[in-house]
Amino acid sequence: MTETKSKKLLILYATQTGNAMDAAERVGREAEHRGCPASVLSVDEYDASLLPLEDMVVFVVSTTGQGDPPDSMKVFWRFLLQRNLNQHWLEGVRYAVFGLGDSGYQKYNFVAKKLDKRLSDLGAQAIVERGLGDDQHPSGYEGALDPWLSSLWRMLYQMNPKLLPNGPDYVISDKKFLDLPKVQIRYHAADEVNPQYAVGSGVSCTEIEIEKARSMSPARFSGRQTRPDCFLKLVKNHCLTKAGCGKDVRHLEFNFESSAIEYDVGDVLEILPGQDPKAVDAFLECCHLDPESFITIHPTKKDNRVLANGTRASTVPIKLRTFVELAMDISSASPRRYLFEVMSYFATAEHEKERLQYFASAEGRDDLYQYNQKERRTVLEVLQDFPSVQLPLEWLVQLVPPLKTRAFSISSSPSAHPNQVHLTVNVVSWKTPFKRNRAGLCSMWLANLDPNQGACIPAWFQKGSLPPPPPSLPLILVGPGTGCAPFRGFVEERAIQSRSIWTAPIIFFFGCRNEESDFLYRDFWLDQSQNDGVLSDAKGGGLFVAFSRDQPQKIYVQHKIREHSQTVWNLLNSGAAVYVAGSSTKMPTDVWSAFEDIVSKEGAVSKESAGRWLRALEKAGKYHVEAWS
Ligand code: 2AM
Repeated sequence: MTETKSKKLLILYATQTGNAMDAAERVGREAEHRGCPASVLSVDEYDASLLPLEDMVVFVVSTTGQGDPPDSMKVFWRFLLQRNLNQHWLEGVRYAVFGLGDSGYQKYNFVAKKLDKRLSDLGAQAIVERGLGDDQHPSGYEGALDPWLSSLWRMLYQMNPKLLPNGPDYVISDKKFLDLPKVQIRYHAADEVNPQYAVGSGVSCTEIEIEKARSMSPARFSGRQTRPDCFLKLVKNHCLTKAGCGKDVRHLEFNFESSAIEYDVGDVLEILPGQDPKAVDAFLECCHLDPESFITIHPTKKDNRVLANGTRASTVPIKLRTFVELAMDISSASPRRYLFEVMSYFATAEHEKERLQYFASAEGRDDLYQYNQKERRTVLEVLQDFPSVQLPLEWLVQLVPPLKTRAFSISSSPSAHPNQVHLTVNVVSWKTPFKRNRAGLCSMWLANLDPNQGACIPAWFQKGSLPPPPPSLPLILVGPGTGCAPFRGFVEERAIQSRSIWTAPIIFFFGCRNEESDFLYRDFWLDQSQNDGVLSDAKGGGLFVAFSRDQPQKIYVQHKIREHSQTVWNLLNSGAAVYVAGSSTKMPTDVWSAFEDIVSKEGAVSKESAGRWLRALEKAGKYHVEAWS
């Protein structure tokens, strides 16, 4: 093997929700522990034209949506795809790729696979075969990361033992480890805090508080860090499903006052959920933190990534309780393994230390999975389970996941409901294997809100992946379950347009379990499918509903699509666009196959040609999918 040029490992990550960043940081830590200096950067912080100068680069990249790279990777990816880069451009560069994906999606780990191929086409040489982490694996992406990292270290060591002076095995001393917090906390005496500027001294949170708290957070993926676009006022909270049917889907209506707010059908609303005040109290108590103290958070010099963004270090003190409430997701489930590792160093009771060390080790991975993922233990519960661990605040702000905003497809048309926005929210709850009740933080919080309490909800309006269709565009909409949300907006909008202009037909495929229990917005759809409604026969439209559990065999939207093959084909031929929305697990893939079958059957072409035809439709911006889990 040839000797390598330098001994520095560059780790570039592309993340959407933060998992790839966690994984990349782990690669960086493990490299450093083995004596190999490493720097970990997001791809958007790196100048791609410098790649040929690197010696060893590890890429940790997620695949999002329908095989897309994370937003942070778009510029980098475009650069790498340039035609003028030839097959020698990356000669002498060694690389390794680890992907994070979900095999429930059609384009599983697409970005990692494409990146691996492109790097190799440009002359770079793989150190190890690419690793593919799968969300569907019982222990998540870590299931593949553990063995992949072991082989990466082994290969690097084989290449040149000097690269890993401490050897390929994981060895670390406590002292070295304790050097690492990325931030420092400064406490401010009450008389030092100018009451005019202090954040958290007011009664309820303001948009400035939200922006301050979230921008001060060292965690870089706290969702929206800007001021909210507005505060929403809940005016209606009504259950769309039959009581006791096992599903709880809410129709929520909010008012907003700002006339500057504009949104389109198909847009997405991001909401910052409130945290349970009791949980916040319990967290502050368990961590022995004074809720009334004022703090500022400063990057340590060591962490140039935080320093690179000078705005991060806020100088305005914030009340500790406000910071926890607005920026730390203390009820988030299944904390990452690194929390257990750090806790193990701080445990003073021997049995707790041993258990934490075991959980943090490769051997303990399955047991950690049982304790952590299966039971959906929250960060707070984990901290409470190990009372001898007193993590300093520097570590807590770094390790407790940031409170994320939650995104929902908007289910209203702004023309039909001026100054209002509607959501259709599935209230997620389940029992763990040990029969503990668990619920989705945001959906449960929303479901429990009473319109009479006048809560103000911080919200941001966003473009989603469903562009608003012009009135002259024929539509084939497929939205089982809460997937119908954006299409309620589409149909409302078109109903209004059709009062003054000619509008193209819409056919809508909806799916639910039973006609009686969860036919969401039943009256609205039926109404629109009659007389001169936009889904009516008279307008060339249609409403087709698949009740999956009203008969012995399952009937899904894709069955209905096949059943109405000719209608679908005719509409496709008249230039229709397809929009698919709903649960991500398998539905979008199954629906795609149904369309392939139709194109193949009605167009009398092979399955391959039908696939190409659909991909061309997608490329032309006429096949859109918005999927969520
Ligand atoms: P099921 O729960 O009876 O399996 C909304 O959730 C509807 O989508 C339900 O009727 C659900 O049926 C159905 N569904 C589940 N998996 C699906 C899939 N792969 N494709 C289409 N619909 C699906």
